[in-house]
Amino acid sequence: MDKRNLNIAVIGAGVIGSSVAKELQKELRNSNITVIADAFHEDTASCVAAGIFRPGPSFKGPTREITKQWIDYSWNYWSKIMNSSDAAQAGIMPLPVYIFSKTNYHVTRNHLIEDLVPVYRECDVDELKMCGKGWKYGSYYLTLKIECDKYLPWNEVLFKQNGGKILKQKVESFSSLKDYNLVFNCTGMGSKYLCNDHDLVPIRGQVIKVNAPWLKTSFYGDYDTYVIPGMDGNATLGGCRQYDSYNMEVDKYDSASIWERCCDLVPSLKKAKVIGHKVGLRPHRVPVRVEREVMHGLSVVHCYGHGGYGVMVAPGTAKTAVQIAVDALKRNSQSKL
Ligand SMILES: Cc1cc2nc3c(=O)[nH]c(=O)nc-3n(C[C@H](O)[C@H](O)[C@H](O)COP(=O)(O)OP(=O)(O)OC[C@H]3O[C@@H](n4cnc5c(N)ncnc54)[C@H](O)[C@@H]3O)c2cc1C
Ligand SMILES: *[C@@H]1O[C@H](CO)[C@@H](O)[C@H](O)[C@H]1NC(C)=O
Ligand SMILES: *[C@@H]1O[C@H](CO)[C@@H](O)[C@H](O)[C@H]1NC(C)=O
Ligand SMILES: *[C@@H]1O[C@H](CO)[C@@H](O)[C@H](O)[C@H]1NC(C)=O
Ligand SMILES: *[C@@H]1O[C@H](CO)[C@@H](O)[C@H](O)[C@H]1NC(C)=O
Repeated sequence: MDKRNLNIAVIGAGVIGSSVAKELQKELRNSNITVIADAFHEDTASCVAAGIFRPGPSFKGPTREITKQWIDYSWNYWSKIMNSSDAAQAGIMPLPVYIFSKTNYHVTRNHLIEDLVPVYRECDVDELKMCGKGWKYGSYYLTLKIECDKYLPWNEVLFKQNGGKILKQKVESFSSLKDYNLVFNCTGMGSKYLCNDHDLVPIRGQVIKVNAPWLKTSFYGDYDTYVIPGMDGNATLGGCRQYDSYNMEVDKYDSASIWERCCDLVPSLKKAKVIGHKVGLRPHRVPVRVEREVMHGLSVVHCYGHGGYGVMVAPGTAKTAVQIAVDALKRNSQSKL
């Protein structure tokens, strides 16, 4: 492999850029890594997410095998932190989930994680009556959850301790990247504005953050209704999936609908204190784009388009993105990158 000290830029400081930067420090120790972004921490889409480890059917890598590898690798990655003494600081916690449906059995199953999580079973008759009337199908499983408002700052401290640099700046042109040998494009929805990737589409989401310390279990119902407890006694209530909507404003009709649907599912929420409302655009693309391209003479590895599943699967896609770069370095070790 190339032994030169590389200058590497990671564009994006959401969960994807943050995970790529961490993987780079592991695989390319001698390189000089700079994360460049115009938004950090709570200003990223990553911090709107509840961060539940639960892939949906719209999540697709280039092949089924790769999709599954990403998910399995990520599960182990998060489990390891969750089992360590860093869990609370890193924002990783175990999460029991009930998922119910009045209309369809399949939405209560999840072939991508049933073999991975420690428990995944059908609900019994009593459990189907836990959340009001009319639930015909239901599953119970144990998964985990990643809170980016804790994970991103925790990861950033480690990144800096290992010599990483951070620049707050908007990347508007490739000429501003000419000092770097290698660039990782982890811009999420930002890739849409920079470029003409017509396959990247926002799926708008809105959630209500509430304080409900008594809640320890997550509940899902039909029509994208979910209640996800977190650390500090707070919970995320959702939601909606609006395809091709760029609206970043809180919509009062969405709020009313989310509140009513969640209170129907979990009536104790009526007494919960509302902390705030949040909107985020899920960067949806089929497949998620993890590939290398030479742009304006610069070696770029793209890693974007994770839709509604970027938090849970970030470690897996970051590993592939860095591997692609390392392979290219090996191939080109005699010549120029
Ligand atoms: C309501 C909602 C609920 C969700 N729930 C879950 C969930 O439960 N589980 C899950 O796994 N996922 C969930 N997601 C999806 C998840 O949030 C995304 O897949 C993930 O955050 C994408 O991460 P990212 O790093 O690609 O993007 P972002 O977090 O948006 O980060 C993009 C970064 O790129 C930077 N950037 C972009 N363009 C430029 C530029 N030109 N110059 C400099 N910097 C730039 C930005 O400043 C930012 O730092 C949810 C999303 C929403 C909206
Ligand atoms: C690391 O990269 C930055 C940005 O290109 C550059 O300013 C700095 O001099 C580099 N440091 C080393 C040791 O190469
Ligand atoms: C985490 O701990 C659980 C329970 O002890 C164990 O089954 C699992 O294998 C551990 N996972 C990892 C990745 O260490
Ligand atoms: C990120 O990818 C998009 C789509 O290919 C491209 O237009 C954009 O210039 C890339 N940005 C960087 C910094 O590589
Ligand atoms: C969680 O709830 C506490 C109050 O218990 C509040 O101070 C804090 O800001 C909340 N955190 C988030 C992320 O909403």
